[in-house]
Parts: sequence; structure tokens; C-alpha cells
Amino acid sequence: MTIDPILVTGASGQVGGAFAKLAASRGYDVCLPGRDRLDLTNPDSMEDFIGSNQWSYVVNCAAYTAVDQAETDPEQAFATNAKAPGALAALTARLGIPIIHLSTDYVFDGAKANAYTESDPIAPLGIYGASKAEGEARIRRANPDHAILRTAWVLSAGGKNFLTTMLRLGVGRDNIAVVSDQFGCPTGADDLAEVILKVIMQSAATGKTWHAVNGGSTSWHGLAEQIFACAADAGYNAPFISSITTEQYPTPAKRPENSRLSTDKIQAELGIKLRPWKDAVNAIVAEYMQREETSKCED
Ligand SMILES: NC(=O)c1ccc[n+]([C@@H]2O[C@H](COP(=O)([O-])OP(=O)(O)OC[C@H]3O[C@@H](n4cnc5c(N)ncnc54)[C@H](OP(=O)(O)O)[C@@H]3O)[C@@H](O)[C@H]2O)c1
Repeated sequence: MTIDPILVTGASGQVGGAFAKLAASRGYDVCLPGRDRLDLTNPDSMEDFIGSNQWSYVVNCAAYTAVDQAETDPEQAFATNAKAPGALAALTARLGIPIIHLSTDYVFDGAKANAYTESDPIAPLGIYGASKAEGEARIRRANPDHAILRTAWVLSAGGKNFLTTMLRLGVGRDNIAVVSDQFGCPTGADDLAEVILKVIMQSAATGKTWHAVNGGSTSWHGLAEQIFACAADAGYNAPFISSITTEQYPTPAKRPENSRLSTDKIQAELGIKLRPWKDAVNAIVAEYMQREETSKCED
């Protein structure tokens, strides 16, 4: 058990929120400053806040995650995803604090036929991926006591993500068309929070990068089908999920066709194996339904 508090950035987001809840439930002291108290794009704010206390770890879950918007807002994307982690890493290194940083499958171009390993070359297709790749590089350069966890397709019951969007769209719709030619690894924010905590418990922030995603892989179409299969079991409207191609659904940012991540390294080195993605999705849909019921009762 650590003595000094853990500083968590991005705690109003999916992964930061899940990690903060988990760590607090296990007895860790966590500090969760909002952007009003710690704006990562403001170096003075960072210096003042981090210098104001002793921290056992900094867990950086803050990011600019609007993948399409980043294409027309590169300055903000790079400020948050590249410069800020670099500055955070330099500051934590100076103060002797290890840092855990989150990165993404979108650092890859998707041309590989099978799952990407940590040693595969990166080649981001868009601004978001490029800014996250630069963030990784700056973390590695500035603080040797780091762990970078690349994850993908993050889902939670409360956040803004593919699962909650689908369930919201599903109300009153007979059909939803979903892309079936992009493949990746859906990952529960709660499962990722467990990984972050295990990295802390094993004192493993020693300069390594790991892939951390739920087991197995699917397409966005397959993911939508699983979400609604599970929702239908709970009596929820389940529209037909028709299949479309990436070409039929153009987006400002190009996505990798294959962003499956191999988790062999984290399994071998830290003994961490996440449950299959379908199990995570089922648990998140159940939690979503529970929240809907609770909010109906409160109305
Ligand atoms: N979501 C995914 O599918 C996905 C996939 C792969 C990797 N990742 C990575 O996983 C990590 C966590 O993602 P997530 O889904 O939890 O993100 P999220 O839900 O979009 O949350 C992002 C968080 O970052 C905070 N933030 C943004 N700019 C900030 C700034 N200048 N100063 C301080 N805080 C700031 C946001 O605060 P506000 O509430 O104030 O906006 C929010 O708390 C990120 O590194 C992301 O790149 C995510």
C-alpha cells in the first residue's frame, strides 16, 4: 500500500473515473483535480498543483479524445496529448514520481494482418493518433519511471462511448447501420482500471509499454450486435444491425482497419490477463440498464 496520494488526471473521463473509484475502494488515497484546478495545457497550473503535495504516482488519464474533431483542431490535440504528457513526465521525473500514461491503438495504421505487438512500428493515420504517439515519445524521453498502457475501444456505462451511443440510438429505431470492416478490441474502463492498479501494486512503472485490452476482437458491427443481444435479454428494444463499409461511412479522421492489440507481453511480464470482451460488454450493458432504472425511479 502506498502512503502518499495518487494524483489522477482526467478523473471526469471514463478510465480516470473508473480508476479513481477502484483505487479509493481498495483504500488508496486519490486526488482527482478537475480541469479548473489542473489544466494540463497550462504549464503554470501543472507546476503549481503537482508541486503543492507529495504524490506516490501520477496516473495520466486526461486526453483530447475527440478523434474526428482533432483533424481540424490539431493545436489543442497536440497540446493535450503530446506537450502536456511531456511536461508532466519532466515534472514528475524532477520530483521522483513514477507516471502511468494511457495511449491508443490509433498509433498504428491498421495495415498489419494480425494483432499488433508493442514492438511493431507505429504509423498513425490521423491527428489524434499522431498526437498520442508524440505523447508516448515525450513520456519515454522525460521520465524513466513510466508505464505506458496502450488500450482501445474503451467502454463504460456512464461515459460517452460507442456502447452508450448505440443504446441511446436504439430507442425507437428498427435499424442501425454499423461499420463491419474495422476490427479492434473492445475494452471495459473498469477492467483497464484494474490493470493500472496492478501496475502500481507491482511497482512496474520502470520504462515499459504494454498493450492492455479485453480478450478477443471484433468489428464495430459485431460489438453493436453483442450490445443489443445483451440489452434485448433485459427487455430493451433491439434494432436490426445492418452492415456497412468504411467507405459508406466516411469520417473526418481515417481509422485503422485492424487495430487489434496483442496482450502477450503484459501477460508474460506482469501476469495480467483481461477477461473476454463479451463478458466486459455484458457487465457494462447490465450496469447501464441498472442506471436507467434508477434514474426512472428518481424522476
Ligand atoms: N476512449 C477510447 O476509446 C480510447 C481508446 C484508446 C485509448 N484511449 C486513451 O485512454 C485514455 C482515457 O480515455 P477516456 O476514454 O477515459 O477519455 P475521456 O472519457 O474522453 O476523458 C478525457 C479526460 O481528459 C480530461 N481533459 C481533457 N483535456 C484536459 C486538460 N487540458 N486538462 C485536464 N484535463 C483534461 C477531460 O476533462 P473534462 O471533463 O474537463 O473534459 C476528461 O476527464 C486517454 O489517454 C485516451 O487517449 C481511449
